[in-house]
Amino acid sequence: MLVKKTRPWELSENQATSEHIFFNRRKFLKTSGLLAAGVGSGLLAACEDGAEADTGRALSLDPNASKYPAARNPNFTLTREITREDVSSRYNNFYEFGSHKRISSAAQDLEIRPWQVVIDGDVAEPLTLDCDELIKAMPLEERLYRHRCVEAWAMAVPWTGFPFSELVKLANIKSGVRYVRMETFMNPDVASGQNQFWYPWPYVEGLTLDEATNDLAFLVTGVYGKPLPKQFGAPLRLAVPWKYGFKSIKSIVRFTFTAKRPVSFWEEINAAEYGFWANVNPDVAHPRWSQATEELLGTGTRVPTQLFNGYAEQVAHLYAGNNQPLYR
Ligand code: MTE
Repeated sequence: MLVKKTRPWELSENQATSEHIFFNRRKFLKTSGLLAAGVGSGLLAACEDGAEADTGRALSLDPNASKYPAARNPNFTLTREITREDVSSRYNNFYEFGSHKRISSAAQDLEIRPWQVVIDGDVAEPLTLDCDELIKAMPLEERLYRHRCVEAWAMAVPWTGFPFSELVKLANIKSGVRYVRMETFMNPDVASGQNQFWYPWPYVEGLTLDEATNDLAFLVTGVYGKPLPKQFGAPLRLAVPWKYGFKSIKSIVRFTFTAKRPVSFWEEINAAEYGFWANVNPDVAHPRWSQATEELLGTGTRVPTQLFNGYAEQVAHLYAGNNQPLYR
């Protein structure tokens, strides 16, 4: 006898989602004006000048500023010191603004208001949301995460945001979805790096649905108790701390739910060096960087790298017995 195991995403919206979440989805769509305007019509909130150059100005422009600092979730703390803000905010990878680490001032040219976030692909109804409205509707919390780049440097960061699983609930995905593909903005006029034609812009990343709904997968809207500065990937970025940093895509404009594995930006450039899985593994060297140890930025010290960046307990089961490589 064939027994079909029904998965949550195969149910209709009100069956698949708890009453609380279903209510919140309806309430969110209603308060954001999307129900009245017709879902997917791309309603935007009032436009503000987003060219703020400093945190104070960013705070004054942010309608969600009062949500920061958010309460720290005690399930996500660290034993290592948090990296100093003046270090982490001036040492960033954001190739849209240059292929070096000092992009923080160039990134201030990015206009983050209004900012549309599209949720599409295999979903009941595509959504086009105003990012401020999305953040307003989400339960924000602070989590202390390790952050490990494949270049063998590491930070410890107090991110603020909401679980990726909340966005998956909102998306109302269809059966058969196995991956989520994420895409960054495209605007070569302000992001000069996007004029470098040898890169396959826009920046794209992907996760399996199991990864995206794992407790650790976090959509980030703030850091150090404040709304996210632009060099960190404002207004919305990913944090998947068991993977190398290039998976944590910045300034997301689109989430596409799909049955097909997406090809990510770095994978397209060089699949041998930057695979889809990109799980932190001290035993698998990158062709240019040993992964055995990592430099803790701002401290001058190196420490041994941990498998899955120290998150094996939470995520190792995702890769057990299914031939998915730990690194590439
Ligand atoms: N996202 C976009 N859109 N563009 C990028 O160049 N770089 C990635 C990732 N997300 C990148 C991106 C890399 S290589 C790393 S290590 C992290 O962002 C760096 O995040 P941080 O600057 O907050 O430390």
